Amino acid sequence: MTDSKEILLEVQQLQKSFGDRIVLNGIDLQVGKGEVIVILGPSGCGKSTFLRCLNGLESVQGGVIQYRGQNLAEGNVDWPEVRQHIGMVFQNYDLFPHMTVIDNILLGPLQVQKRDKNEALQQAEQLLDRVGLLDRKDAYPRQLSGGQKQRIAIVRALCMNPDIILFDEVTASLDPEMVREVLDVILGLANQGMTMIIVTHEMGFAKSVGDRIVFIDQGKICEIATAQQFFTAPATERAQHFLDIFQY
Ligand SMILES: Nc1ncnc2c1ncn2[C@@H]1O[C@H](COP(=O)(O)OP(=O)(O)OP(=O)(O)O)[C@@H](O)[C@H]1O
Ligand SMILES: [Mg+2]
Repeated sequence: MTDSKEILLEVQQLQKSFGDRIVLNGIDLQVGKGEVIVILGPSGCGKSTFLRCLNGLESVQGGVIQYRGQNLAEGNVDWPEVRQHIGMVFQNYDLFPHMTVIDNILLGPLQVQKRDKNEALQQAEQLLDRVGLLDRKDAYPRQLSGGQKQRIAIVRALCMNPDIILFDEVTASLDPEMVREVLDVILGLANQGMTMIIVTHEMGFAKSVGDRIVFIDQGKICEIATAQQFFTAPATERAQHFLDIFQY
């Protein structure tokens, strides 16, 4: 990210606790337009919680989440409105089982964004075509493979025309042969300049997609570096140890 780039999202000293347990302890992060940030860190370090805070799925106890001139860490946030701009894709797709692929995708654009049906349908079909699934638009989720469901979940997020998409281990539930097809969709989005924050345990993917790597340990950012720096010469022992575990 260069200094001249517009900052889309700025997190300052974010604090999150569950009861007495402090889970995020002063996270600072700026996300530039078009930037791809990959968050790495050991299990339980707070990666999912961090993304969930950015999407209003967890309350926060302190700090600032500056987005479009408002502080999302304060009360009175219109989260349904914000989620139109900050999309999220989860590990388990959470498509509605009783709705077809196309109806799942169009739900947000039509019900929340009140868009014109033909216009939204056209965009949905273009996006489905891009991920190679246009011929499955009338299928139900149960008729799709895990990799296909996850690509649909990504299309559903994209069809809202978000500014930022958050990805939380979106390949973690997939069989190995389906991981690649989903990662390739995300790589394609990165190449098109989509701003993304990605939590993953796929180190090769992290290295190829990430502009910056944010390494979190025990609720704190230990290290922020370019992907190149992080994977060749991490600055901290903890990050080195983490990479050793992945034999990376
Ligand atoms: N709803 C909750 N109530 C209480 N504690 C929680 C809750 N959600 C998460 N935690 C705790 O917060 C900490 C961070 O959890 P989080 O899910 O963010 O970790 P993570 O980095 O995403 O881990 P993983 O790599 O295993 O997905 C963990 O200690 C977890 O037990
Ligand atoms: Mg997690």
